[in-house]
Amino acid sequence: MMAKIDVTNLNLYYGKSKVLNNINMIFTEKSVTALIGPSGCGKTSFLRTLNRLNDTVPDTRVQGKIKLDGLDIYKDMDEIRLRKKVGMVFQKPNPFPMSIYDNVAYGPKIHGIKNKKTLDYIVEKSLYEAFLWDEVKDRLKKPALSLSGGQQQRLCIARALAVEPEVILMDEPTSALDPIATAKIEELILKLKHDYTVIMVTHSMQQAARISDFTGFFLLGNLIEYKETSKLFKNPEDDRTIGYINGIFG
Ligand SMILES: Nc1ncnc2c1ncn2[C@@H]1O[C@H](COP(=O)(O)OP(=O)(O)OP(=O)(O)O)[C@@H](O)[C@H]1O
Ligand SMILES: [Mg+2]
Repeated sequence: MMAKIDVTNLNLYYGKSKVLNNINMIFTEKSVTALIGPSGCGKTSFLRTLNRLNDTVPDTRVQGKIKLDGLDIYKDMDEIRLRKKVGMVFQKPNPFPMSIYDNVAYGPKIHGIKNKKTLDYIVEKSLYEAFLWDEVKDRLKKPALSLSGGQQQRLCIARALAVEPEVILMDEPTSALDPIATAKIEELILKLKHDYTVIMVTHSMQQAARISDFTGFFLLGNLIEYKETSKLFKNPEDDRTIGYINGIFG
């Protein structure tokens, strides 16, 4: 198993407050890792450091090292190159106010693809991979915002896939969805891990147990326990993990 991302001694500060405390984590290539923990423990902040989305937040300081395929993402890569490799899907579906087609073609166009046939191919392939093609193939020119919430989220996943990333970050991708749409996204994530490294935040321990290979439990900015999902849920070692899993807090 190969390390795709290697996080060493990561600290994150918003102004004077330290939100992530000495995080060390390795993410295995072509696997799904779930990040769990109570509200405010730093899961979203952590995910954003992997994509350098905190760079634009004033007064934010990142210490430590994050390597992607051995390259330091803060030193050896610019944001554009990084974000082509590391895509992100947010908690709330956020399609652009344009057509379904244009949402998916947007990224490839930015990366210089102009040929109509090539774009058509990428749009179809990405929508197909995101399990959305059959539902939208007859209405590609319709506004993305006319889709249902679950369809919008799958569109955002298709948009992320269209630039052929290697890593996909997902921040509670199903929290706004009903059980059927959630099941579709879960099925999709299981399929994605054959080709991509997926790191997802979830509040649902059932979801983590269903679809992740590894789980990390965060508490107050600390990574408390991180191991294979089945081991974390069956044999948690830290009292705080045991408490969280048994619903004592969070
Ligand atoms: N831009 C910011 N400026 C200052 N503080 C922030 C900022 N973003 C988040 N925080 C604080 O950092 C801490 C971690 O927040 P974060 O959003 O990472 O938590 P989370 O684990 O994702 O929570 P939730 O489960 O509610 O989404 C919280 O105390 C939050 O208030
Ligand atoms: Mg969050």
